[in-house]
Amino acid sequence: MTGLSSPDPLKFAFTAKIAAHASRGGARPLALDDKGWQRWWQEATGARDRALYIHIPFCKKRCSFCNFFENGANPARMSRYMAALCENLRQGAETPLAQSAPFAAVYVGGGTPTDMAAGDLARLAEVIQRFPLTQDAELTLEGRLNGFDEQKWQTALAGGFNRFSFGVQSFDTQVRQQAARIDERGRVLARLAELTRVDEAVIVADLIFGLPGQDDAIWRQDIADVMASGVHGVDLYQLIPMPGTHLDRVQEKGRLGWAADGPQRATMYGYGAQTLEQGGWQRLSCSHWRRTDSEQSRYNQMAKGGAEILPFGAGAGGNVHGHGLMYGRDLTPWHQALAAGRRAPGMVMGRNPHAELDALLRGALDTGGLVLALLPDDVKAQLLPLFQTWQQHGLAVLIGERLELTLAGRFWTVNLQAGLFEYVQLNPLAGADAASAHPTGAAGHSLV
Ligand SMILES: C[S@@+](CC[C@H](N)C(=O)[O-])C[C@H]1O[C@@H](n2cnc3c(N)ncnc32)[C@H](O)[C@@H]1O
Ligand code: SF4
Repeated sequence: MTGLSSPDPLKFAFTAKIAAHASRGGARPLALDDKGWQRWWQEATGARDRALYIHIPFCKKRCSFCNFFENGANPARMSRYMAALCENLRQGAETPLAQSAPFAAVYVGGGTPTDMAAGDLARLAEVIQRFPLTQDAELTLEGRLNGFDEQKWQTALAGGFNRFSFGVQSFDTQVRQQAARIDERGRVLARLAELTRVDEAVIVADLIFGLPGQDDAIWRQDIADVMASGVHGVDLYQLIPMPGTHLDRVQEKGRLGWAADGPQRATMYGYGAQTLEQGGWQRLSCSHWRRTDSEQSRYNQMAKGGAEILPFGAGAGGNVHGHGLMYGRDLTPWHQALAAGRRAPGMVMGRNPHAELDALLRGALDTGGLVLALLPDDVKAQLLPLFQTWQQHGLAVLIGERLELTLAGRFWTVNLQAGLFEYVQLNPLAGADAASAHPTGAAGHSLV
């Protein structure tokens, strides 16, 4: 929860990144029958902020590090999926739930949505426009540069997509080949240069640090390359060893070449973050920077900040009427349910009574700073001992009414978020009255 006391917290405050995301545990699945589900779609939303998430669970090729891979991009299978998905979106768009308030962002993610055929992309764009979108809505298409040809690019622009998020991972040809990426460095840079010439679209690139063979010199070159590539925004992700990936299997057999360890990855993060910021890039979150104001990263901020997210597609997740919702990944039952007019299989969670506070805390720690005045007094008193310990451990600083994560805190932000949610569960608010009388945190708080 607190991190370890270390003279070098960037490298040693925790032993490993615990997960990709953190949330308060304890929400229970909710039994929702088809009637209840139909009623949901007849009810107007109570949410102020809302977005659409559309999932495309196909990839042409499985990359060695990734466990987002779900299905091979077989053209017939993909087109069948897209037809069912577009019909599902068409019906969804007509409902009182969808029509009751505008959507400020749409995210088409995967998998590799850019692997879909140009015709499917055009149909998807058309059906998205049936939802009430705000005038400046952010419409993101995720994917990869390989296979995203001129026809798909023009189709996407004509259909209203105005933001593209491409996984680059590394520009280095050898690192890319080891990770089973397809294009070589020159091709990736040339295509980014072409796409960033168009003014109306924002282009974002994802980089990973810690890939096999990606030493410090290669990482420095990756940062230099991305800064010169013309992209408007960049994500820097630490490699998370995912069970079940090709990388994981090779590592288990001891056949993996050199790869950065945890402390080396921390140094890589520090180098990337500081070089971007010294180069005038603005930090929007602990892992995302922008070169120009045109990049808003609105969907990501909305999702972290607790907006209503209407999910569509097998494997899509979101939150509707305050309930977490996650559709199963399996394509066959998904198709069968949609064909029969039933809710796609998946999990609906009970309402989180702390949703607003959790979203505030998660969103703030994700961006690297929290305005304490936004917290109710009792919650502030409850959390202060934890924040003070983070400060002692070099992970945050308390400046007046603000908690600001340090570079180390930003690197470990997911661990801090998970720690915070664990802390509030171990120290429920009942003890907070005592704590407000003892601002040192001696009463009622456990910092183990
Ligand atoms: C859902 S994936 C889609 C990427 C896209 N299909 C592509 O091929 O580039 C989004 C991003 O997650 C990141 N990612 C995937 N596996 C990861 C891992 N094991 N550790 C850290 N980041 C990972 C990659 O940077 C990737 O671009
Ligand atoms: S990085 Fe992209 S293309 Fe590669 S397996 Fe993951 S989602 Fe698929």
